[in-house]
Amino acid sequence: MKRNSLYLFSIFIVIFSCVDKPTNQGLIAKNGMVVSAREEASKIGVEILKKGGNAFDAMIATDLALAVCYQSAGNIGGGGFMVYRESNGQTGALDYREKAPLTATKEMYLDDDGNIIKGMSLVGAMAVGVPGTIAGIFEVHSKFGSLPIETLFQPAIDLAKNGIIITEKQSNRIKSHQNYFKLANKEKILFQEEINTGDRLKFPNLANTLEKIMNNGKDEFYKGETAKKLVNFINDNNGIISLKDLELYKAVWRDPIEFSYDNLKIISMSPPSSGGICLEQIMKMVEPYEIHKMKHNSLNYFKLLVEAERRSFADRSFYLGDPDFVEIPKEQLVSKEYLLDRMSTFSFDSPTPSDEISYGKIEILESDETTHYSIVDQFGNAVSVTTTLNGSYGSQLYCSELGFFLNNEMDDFSSKPGSPNMFGLIGGSANKIEPEKRMLSSMTPTIVEKDNELLMALGSPGGSRIITSVLQTILNVHEFKMSMNQAVNSPRFHHQWMPDSIKIESNSFNPKLIEELKLFGYNIDYKDPIGIVDGILVLSSGSLEGGADNRGDDTAIGF
Ligand code: DON
Repeated sequence: MKRNSLYLFSIFIVIFSCVDKPTNQGLIAKNGMVVSAREEASKIGVEILKKGGNAFDAMIATDLALAVCYQSAGNIGGGGFMVYRESNGQTGALDYREKAPLTATKEMYLDDDGNIIKGMSLVGAMAVGVPGTIAGIFEVHSKFGSLPIETLFQPAIDLAKNGIIITEKQSNRIKSHQNYFKLANKEKILFQEEINTGDRLKFPNLANTLEKIMNNGKDEFYKGETAKKLVNFINDNNGIISLKDLELYKAVWRDPIEFSYDNLKIISMSPPSSGGICLEQIMKMVEPYEIHKMKHNSLNYFKLLVEAERRSFADRSFYLGDPDFVEIPKEQLVSKEYLLDRMSTFSFDSPTPSDEISYGKIEILESDETTHYSIVDQFGNAVSVTTTLNGSYGSQLYCSELGFFLNNEMDDFSSKPGSPNMFGLIGGSANKIEPEKRMLSSMTPTIVEKDNELLMALGSPGGSRIITSVLQTILNVHEFKMSMNQAVNSPRFHHQWMPDSIKIESNSFNPKLIEELKLFGYNIDYKDPIGIVDGILVLSSGSLEGGADNRGDDTAIGF
């Protein structure tokens, strides 16, 4: 009898815990949390919070720490986007995306016959866009910073001086890029040495550059000695960025994209990122379907998401670009009627080939490397930041004297309408190269509210796959009731209109499902990874749950 009641009691506990609390939770913390691509950066961010700093202070310290310990994507030679939600519910976004240099032209990557010169927008100084990260950091500090800039720079400077321990993933990544480093740089760079797992790597020149910026402010990077050295270096490598380009660079506060899905409010990045608009289009296209009744990653779930993604990416390629240069028909692109019409050709019975889908008809009125981190502080502020050099180690061009890599963000422009970029994305005239224009992005730093309260902060690297990774993670939590940890670590798939194939992560999906997808008429390609999502979920208890993606070295630290 006693044994029986014990047995019943344990069944009750198991059922109860399944219903109330998703299994496999990530780190739980009561006060504040940082989830980023590296343990060192998350630790540095949390130390700032513990000192009484807010999420914006932690953003600055984390961003700089990633520029030291995660140099394939963390940067001061690139750019990014931040979406935020203050504890009082106020939201906003900062655009510190790179810009095309003043002397850039729309044909700059084409030969005399109008063909793309292979690699020119990808490797070396011509691929570099005017960096925005330092401007972004100082902009955040002047609007929201509560601790002195020295307190926020010093941990990254110390990290650069003392060095970082190279992880296995890092040493593999460095090794796989050494040929490109050789191709892009005139002289041998630090990263061409033999670097193995467990080695300590120090960056004294980067420490020195950061120290100068800390002491002399943003102008050190955009007008001062560092600016001059950077321009000389780029020009010496046949690049076209001038001192004037640096001087003119400004980070811009933007209104984020905000929309509702079910009882959630999604706050995400506005153009020049396509992330927010595409996320809104896709979520609104799938909202009428009862996703919670579908099995997670089932055939029907695939069909629904794939077809909505296909339609949204077709619009992306035609309509989206830098809002300071092109008129984006935003209201029409996300209107209910338009999206219902877009999905009117969707059926669970047969796929829609991409060549039958073009961008939607709208009457225009005249009038493998980025990194994401999420922070929630003890005051209830949340920031969601995605920052990048574009490709892993950007243009591969490393300024040894200053100690950092330069981006190859120019490849995010459409070099030739109709030709794919490194993510296979096809662009149109809205995203053509123009002097001082920002190239279209897919970065989707996102914050989610439920009942007017903060629910989630999340985002991902992965080029075009960012949008669909963020989408699936939100649906995993909201529709499939996963923990944050499960949600970020679940297998993912992706479709981007062109090429007309579903990308899926290998060894992650049931072979029977893959067969069914093929039988249905879909082309299947394998791609690893699809996004590396870092998110924070506010639990009903008010505690925070970190979701650090196992696809990378990502780590949640909280207190
Ligand atoms: O802005 C963009 O969309 C791209 N430059 C992001 C690049 C990226 O995520 C690479 N990561 N794997």
